[in-house]
Amino acid sequence: MADTAAQTEGGAGQNRPQDLHYCEGLARLRLGDGFFRPQSRPSRDLGVLLARCRPQPLEVLDLMAGCGIRGLRYGLEAGASAVWVNDADGDRLPLMQANLAPLAAAGCAVRTTALTAQKLLAACLLQERRFGVVDLDAFGCPTPLVAAALEALQFGGVLYLASTDGRSPTGHDRAAAVRSLGAAARAHPASWELALRLQIGVVARAAWALGQGVRPLFSFSEGRTFRVALELQRRAEPQQERLLGLLAHCHGCGEQFSQGLWRLRQWPACGCGAQAPPLAISGPLWLGPLQHAPTLEAMAERAAEAPPGAVAPASLRLLRRLQADPGLPERCWPMAELGRRLGGGPPATEALLAALRAEGFTALRSGLMDGQFRCNAPWPRVLELAAALNR
Ligand SMILES: C[S@@+](CC[C@H](N)C(=O)[O-])C[C@H]1O[C@@H](n2cnc3c(N)ncnc32)[C@H](O)[C@@H]1O
Repeated sequence: MADTAAQTEGGAGQNRPQDLHYCEGLARLRLGDGFFRPQSRPSRDLGVLLARCRPQPLEVLDLMAGCGIRGLRYGLEAGASAVWVNDADGDRLPLMQANLAPLAAAGCAVRTTALTAQKLLAACLLQERRFGVVDLDAFGCPTPLVAAALEALQFGGVLYLASTDGRSPTGHDRAAAVRSLGAAARAHPASWELALRLQIGVVARAAWALGQGVRPLFSFSEGRTFRVALELQRRAEPQQERLLGLLAHCHGCGEQFSQGLWRLRQWPACGCGAQAPPLAISGPLWLGPLQHAPTLEAMAERAAEAPPGAVAPASLRLLRRLQADPGLPERCWPMAELGRRLGGGPPATEALLAALRAEGFTALRSGLMDGQFRCNAPWPRVLELAAALNR
C-alpha cells in the first residue's frame, strides 16, 4: 500500500493529494475531492465478504457510490458479474468511471449513472430490474428509500443499508425519530443497538407491507454510522411479526423489559416499587437476532481464503465479535452501569456471565458495544450476583 493516500480523517477531501492512489482490498483508485472515509473500511470489507457468499451470477447496485470504491471491490473481489454504480453528484462521474475501468478486464459489466437514488430506483421498478445486492450507503436516514430499494432486490437478495442519523434513533431527537422511523426512541444504555433495532424494524415493516420477509444477516455500528445487511425473503417466516415490539427501560432501577406488538400487555413492575418513574419505552423495533451465524461463518471462510491484506485486521476482529454474539437476548447493559449501581465498580465480566449461566440464564458479552453484556435474567438477580462477586 505504498502509494495509499495518507489520510487520517474522513469526509470531503479538498486538501487530498490528487495524484496518489488509495489501495483497499484488491482495489487501487483515486479518491478525488468528494466524501470518503478510510475508517469505513470494515463496512466495505464485510460488504465484499457478504457479496462473495451470495449466489452467482451476482449483480450489484451501488446507489450512493462516492468515488466508486464499493462497486470496484464487488467486481474485483466478490466476483460480481455486473455492477451499477451511481452517485447523485454528477461531478464524481468521470472519477468513478476511471476508477471502475479495471472491471472490464475482470469480466464485470459496469454501468455508471449520476441520478438521485430515488429516480434510479423508480426506473428499476418500471423496468423490473432486480439485483442480488443493493448497497445503500446513505447520508442521514435512509427510510425514504427503503421500500423502493427492497423492490429492486431479487428474492433472497441482500439490502446493505447504512444510516448516519445517530441522533433520532438513540433518543437524542425524539420528534425526529417519530418522523423518520415511525417510532419512539428513548435514551437507552445500549444506544447503538437500539438504533440498529429501530432501523431493522423499519425495513421489516416495509418488507411485510410488500408481502415479503427479512432476515438480518449482520448489524454493527461504531457509533457514527449504523449498518445492517438484510436478506429479502419471498415470504416472511411464520410468526416473524412477533419479532416487532417495544423495549422498555427504567431509568430508576435499570430494569429492562420487552414485549411484542402482536400481544401488548401491561408492563411488569420493576424494582422501584411504588416510586417507579415511567418506563422509557422505545419502538416499534426489531426484537429478533441481529446476526445470522451461518452467514457470518461463510464470510469468515471467505476471509480466510482471501489474499493477504485483502481484509483488514480491524474487519476480521469485527467479524469475530459479531460471530460471538447473535444479538439475543435483546436486553443489554453496560458493565459500568452495574458498577455504578453497586458502588465500588463492576465485577469481572466473565465471572458474572458464568454465574448467570450457572443459574440457567443466557448471558454473553455484547458484540456491538464494548463493555456491555446481554442476558435474560431479572435485573435484581443480576445485581445480586454481581454484588456477591464483589464481596
Ligand atoms: C456516504 S457517501 C458514499 C460513500 C461510499 N459509498 C464509500 O464507501 O466511500 C454518500 C454519497 O451519496 C451521494 N448522495 C447523496 N444523496 C444522494 C441521493 N439522493 N442519491 C444518490 N446519491 C446521493 C453523495 O454524493 C455521496 O457521495
